[in-house]
Formats: sequence, structure tokens, C-alpha cells
Amino acid sequence: MGIYENHVLPRIVDLSCGSAMLDPVREQTCEGLHGRVVEIGFGSGRNVPFYPGAVASVTAVEPVDTGWHMAGKRLAAAKVPVERSGLDGQSLPFADNSFDSALSTWTLCTIPDARAALAELRRVLVPGGTFHFVEHGLAPDAGVQKWQQRLNPMQRTLFGGCHLNRDIRAMIENAGFEIREVDRFYESRTPKFLGALSRGVAISV
Ligand SMILES: C[S@@+](CC[C@H](N)C(=O)[O-])C[C@H]1O[C@@H](n2cnc3c(N)ncnc32)[C@H](O)[C@@H]1O
Repeated sequence: MGIYENHVLPRIVDLSCGSAMLDPVREQTCEGLHGRVVEIGFGSGRNVPFYPGAVASVTAVEPVDTGWHMAGKRLAAAKVPVERSGLDGQSLPFADNSFDSALSTWTLCTIPDARAALAELRRVLVPGGTFHFVEHGLAPDAGVQKWQQRLNPMQRTLFGGCHLNRDIRAMIENAGFEIREVDRFYESRTPKFLGALSRGVAISV
């Protein structure tokens, strides 16, 4: 990874994904996390303030050092222990059945092989463990989808491999999770091609 991916992009992501307008959806996504939690694509730790009291510990998986450093203040104020361990959601260095919950926010768009990452999450979650997610992806409307397909190559180039057109629900189900709840909506202050969100909880069965 070069200077752009290591130093510039994490700051752009922190500004866009870190907007306070997304805090309510982050809080809702984190509801119900419990026990030992693994978070993939930890970024700059924007979810840390929303980990509920039932969380015993968080293991953060993040390839880019800059994000972890930018998380400093939030980590210092964290109510639960958070440690960074693992650099790649596609290959997690953890034993089977070692977590009770998993969290991914705006990350399945970027991981090159998201299917591998979901298979890894399923492997490390206990049976019945919960996977909490909010992701942007393929819009429900054909008109928006057309723009997503057009803009996808540019998005991938400019934003570290971020895809606009991944079908989040289908990917999670195809990985063997059972969807417990999912809301699909457009984030009202984001252009629709980028703001088609899926937020929910899936169960590792
Ligand atoms: C758009 S950012 C979202 C960051 C954070 N989850 C948030 O909600 O603000 C995507 C994150 O995924 C991380 N990422 C990219 N490839 C990854 C991989 N293979 N495994 C884990 N995380 C990855 C990026 O470094 C980045 O921090």
C-alpha cells in the first residue's frame, strides 16, 4: 500500500464515515453486541462509543495503522477493553468458536474477497453468535443500480477498492448466516448510489 492508501484515504474515510449524522445508525447496529466481540475493518474506531455494556472485550481487525492511531481518544475513553489483533478479515488468526458477536460497518464493500471474510466470521463465531452489520451496497431501485454499475470502477480506484454494487443481504445469506433482521434504506443526506444501506443482525447457524 502506498502513501495515499496508508495516510490520505484513512483520513478521507474518517471524515465521511465519521460524520455525526451516522451515529444513530452506528448505535442501532451495535445494539445487542455481547460477550467477546470481533470487529472487522475497525478503521478509526468510530463504533467504540456505542459498544453496549454487555460487551466483555473487542478484538479489532484492521490492516491500516493510521486508522488505529486516529482511534486514540475513543480508545482511551472506551468502557470495554479493545485490542488490535489481526490485519485481514479474509484470514482471521483466531480459533473456531472464539467470539460471541461480530461487527462490520461500511467494510464489506472494501474487503477484496468479502465472501472469504464472511466465511471467517462464521468460523470464529460460536453457533448462535450474532453478526451485526451496516453496509452500503446494491440499491433496491434499477435506476440507482444503473449509476452504481457506471460509477463502480471509479469508486474502486479512488476509495481503496470500495464497491458500490455488492448485494449485502445475499452475500451474508450465501455465507450461511440466517438473517434475523434487516432494514434497507437510503441514508437521507448521502447520494443514493452511495447511501443504499443494509443494517441488521444475522445469526451464525
Ligand atoms: C470505509 S472504511 C470503514 C471503517 C469503519 N468500519 C467505520 O465504520 O468507520 C473500511 C475499512 O475496512 C478496512 N479494510 C480494508 N481491507 C480490509 C481487510 N482485508 N480486512 C479488514 N479490514 C479491511 C479499511 O482499512 C478501512 O478501515
